[in-house]
Amino acid sequence: MEFNVKSGHPEKQRTACIVVGVYEPRRLSDVARRIDEVSNGQLSAILRRGDLEGKAGQTLLLHNIEGTMADRVLLVGCGRERELGDNQYRQIIRQAIQTLHETGSMEAVCHLTELNVRGRDTAWRIRQAIEAAQSALYTFDQLKSQQETTRRPLRKIVFSVASRRELQLAEQASFEAQKIADGVKLAKDLANLPSNHCTPTFLADKAKSLCSLHDNLSCKILTETHMQKQGMGALLAVAKGSKQKPRFIVLEYKNNKNKDPIVLVGKGVTFDSGGISLKPAKDMDEMKYDMCGAASVFGTISAVAELQLPLNVIGIIPAVENMPGSQAVKPGDIVTSLSGQTIEILNTDAEGRLILCDALTYAESYKPDVVIDIATLTGACVVALGKHPHGLMSNHNPLTNDLLSAGKFSGDRAWELPLWDDYQCQIDSPFADIANIGGRDAGTITAACFLSRFTRKYNWAHLDIAGTAWTSGKKDKGATGRPVPLLTQYLINRSSDDSSS
Ligand code: BES
Ligand code: MN
Ligand code: ZN
Repeated sequence: MEFNVKSGHPEKQRTACIVVGVYEPRRLSDVARRIDEVSNGQLSAILRRGDLEGKAGQTLLLHNIEGTMADRVLLVGCGRERELGDNQYRQIIRQAIQTLHETGSMEAVCHLTELNVRGRDTAWRIRQAIEAAQSALYTFDQLKSQQETTRRPLRKIVFSVASRRELQLAEQASFEAQKIADGVKLAKDLANLPSNHCTPTFLADKAKSLCSLHDNLSCKILTETHMQKQGMGALLAVAKGSKQKPRFIVLEYKNNKNKDPIVLVGKGVTFDSGGISLKPAKDMDEMKYDMCGAASVFGTISAVAELQLPLNVIGIIPAVENMPGSQAVKPGDIVTSLSGQTIEILNTDAEGRLILCDALTYAESYKPDVVIDIATLTGACVVALGKHPHGLMSNHNPLTNDLLSAGKFSGDRAWELPLWDDYQCQIDSPFADIANIGGRDAGTITAACFLSRFTRKYNWAHLDIAGTAWTSGKKDKGATGRPVPLLTQYLINRSSDDSSS
């Protein structure tokens, strides 16, 4: 899909379709009013007849509108003007794009980016429009033997800005949006692959092929023998039950000689059966998504490299498959982590923290400015926060604030949970330094407490994406690509400030 921005009069656009907004109740937006004027009131006549109320997401496709140079005019309901906020705006864009795609316009000029969205400027509207458009048209059909094809698919869309003055900002926003959208797509594609395709070695090969695309991106792959030599006993314990060999993937993006690196650690469990503490059968297929943290690291690093941000960003991905078997780690087993701390594995299904703890210790060697881990870590997070925000826990307040605000701007929000000492005693063990589960209460926080035992030497934040990384259901099932927008926005912000937080 090709995206462009431009400014110009709607009636002068020579295009297959111009897209304009109508507010509820039956009120033309500024651009729609202009078209109404040049067509001698055709639009207002249609609204008077009652064909479109203007409710958010309604659409009406018109032909033969006089005074314009377009083949069609698509009216899109925008809801009440004063209520037009972030979610409504994205929904309107998605609806418009879908309709264009299904009604034969192969290119279009969309004026919905000129609508007033509460508290948002032109650059934001362009950013969100492109990201929403790209994700509205996303499909994952590479494993179907025959792909469904749209007869006249939407190929190119031009988003309009009201004045020429805004063009430069809009172009920058468009550039960033396309790179973020590509990062989201990469994360979705990896995550949607089933675990018989997407194995730890497959992810390692993906890392290599990503590196071949960028000069300042390189990677290291540690195999089982390397990991044994290092002493990654916790990670290796999880891998033991599977025939699939684990891989420890390190991506290094270097584009700044003066800054300490920002490290992203992504949970890469390519399938989580639970191990000996086997999960129930219902919805177990969704545990192919237990590598969404890893996928988001791939997507973010790819976006950062495409944007050529003046930063150093390291991606660390411990990749394993969690399976039962005669070789598998068993409840009660005690292992020694890379940090030297011993862990009593009381439940083999709490495997994410076991692979992350060794990756977090490994991150120390980079003398990081900050470390952020991203993981589908706990079902409890879905219970606590639902499917809207990521759970955020951190040992460093400025980092919390930076991530929260990057989330608000990008529309990929996080919500903080308390990482208080009070919870730490829940993961005490009588036999080892730490237990890998902390009982029923506050499961998301005790999982983060576990990780916090391995992140004492640097500023760290943990994103629990168990509720946000994919959506369930028969038809709408699929990876969301989150939190690529949040992370990339955070990194964009970090590349323009000099503060180190
Ligand atoms: N990958 C799961 C968490 C998960 C479950 C994410 C469902 C999204 C949906 C994780 O490895 C896990 O199994 N966690 C356990 C922890 C428990 C054993 C302390 C959980 O949440 O039940
Ligand atoms: Mn598990
Ligand atoms: Zn898991």
